[in-house]
Amino acid sequence: MNMPARFSEALNDFSAGTAGGAVLVKVPARVNIIGEHSDYNNGFVLPMSTAIFTWATASPRDDRKIEVTSHNIGETCLFELDGIQPGQPFSWVEYVKGVAAELEGFGIVLRGADILIESDIPLGAGLSSSASLELAVAKTLLAVVGESVAGPELAKLCQKAEQNYAGVRCGIMDQYTLNCAEEGHAILLDCRSLEVFQIPMPPEFGFILTDCGVKHRLPDGRFNSRADECEAAVEILARNAPDIESLRDLRTDVLEVNRTALGDVLYRRCRHVVSENERVKSAVQAIEDGELQKLGALFDACHTSLRDDYEVSCDELEALVKAANASNGVFGARMVGAGFGGCVLSVCRSDRVSEVATEIRANYATVTGQEPWQHIVEPAKPARVITQS
Ligand code: GLA
Repeated sequence: MNMPARFSEALNDFSAGTAGGAVLVKVPARVNIIGEHSDYNNGFVLPMSTAIFTWATASPRDDRKIEVTSHNIGETCLFELDGIQPGQPFSWVEYVKGVAAELEGFGIVLRGADILIESDIPLGAGLSSSASLELAVAKTLLAVVGESVAGPELAKLCQKAEQNYAGVRCGIMDQYTLNCAEEGHAILLDCRSLEVFQIPMPPEFGFILTDCGVKHRLPDGRFNSRADECEAAVEILARNAPDIESLRDLRTDVLEVNRTALGDVLYRRCRHVVSENERVKSAVQAIEDGELQKLGALFDACHTSLRDDYEVSCDELEALVKAANASNGVFGARMVGAGFGGCVLSVCRSDRVSEVATEIRANYATVTGQEPWQHIVEPAKPARVITQS
């Protein structure tokens, strides 16, 4: 994907400015192959990045003010680096403030900057547009002062920014993926130890993203209610099994013994988390063995579990999964990301992606009258500074 034209212009303007030192940063989007709602339960996830990007340029200022413009939202905000506090009502600039505050809290002395952001990643579509924004801002602010923070540490700082400034109890998957997944690879991430294994993606595997058109908004509370339920379940389980510190530690036999104590809703939330961890391990095996059909079956089981046990689907996602599964060549399809709307990820042979994508689009349009946004997944390079003058 080429740099948007206004970014090369902005870079030239910045370079010509008196402060000097323009920066351009490019951060991909995250596509989770499998392992949904597992990260904040300390489980396993298997995400990759894809070549749709958040772009950020910045030029330094001589004061401690950040002026940030979002081209997508059409807004400019100004804030002081001293005394940053979460603001109300919530708006996109909270992510920017949060990242600046967490970097300074970590001991990086920032300086003022004029930042311009543009993103090709659809918002609220399950592709981690917020984590991509956080990393774009973090890399930009660091580059402006000539500092760097190691990828895993930077991922944790950006996660904290989202938790403390957007109020979302997110896990570490998105920020880790965008910082650590290598081009052409997915990562198997153990969200407890933070051990990362790079998994090469077989070239014959094709992945298609299709947006059902319903935008989720994670700060609206529905995501946090799932994290709260998992925490409540751990509290109940730990009464009988004190070695359970998170749902990662739960085994199916212990879950069954505690079925009545948990009650129907918490039991089903736990069943999703336990079964999803197993699916992640099987998916790694399927990828290593080049078994598209097996991966497809895991996608179907994951979607069913997210819909029935975790209850994060909606009518539009259901219509889209049905449309995808009715398309020739699709081995499996599932909602991707937090749910409550957003994209469906379908898996097929890579030499058939364009025909399959066309058929999914046509099938969805027949049912809903909507032409959905689509993207063929291409695991990209991690977040990086691409120019600094
Ligand atoms: C959002 C969160 C992630 C993860 C996913 C669901 O993207 O930011 O941490 O919990 O939802 O898997």
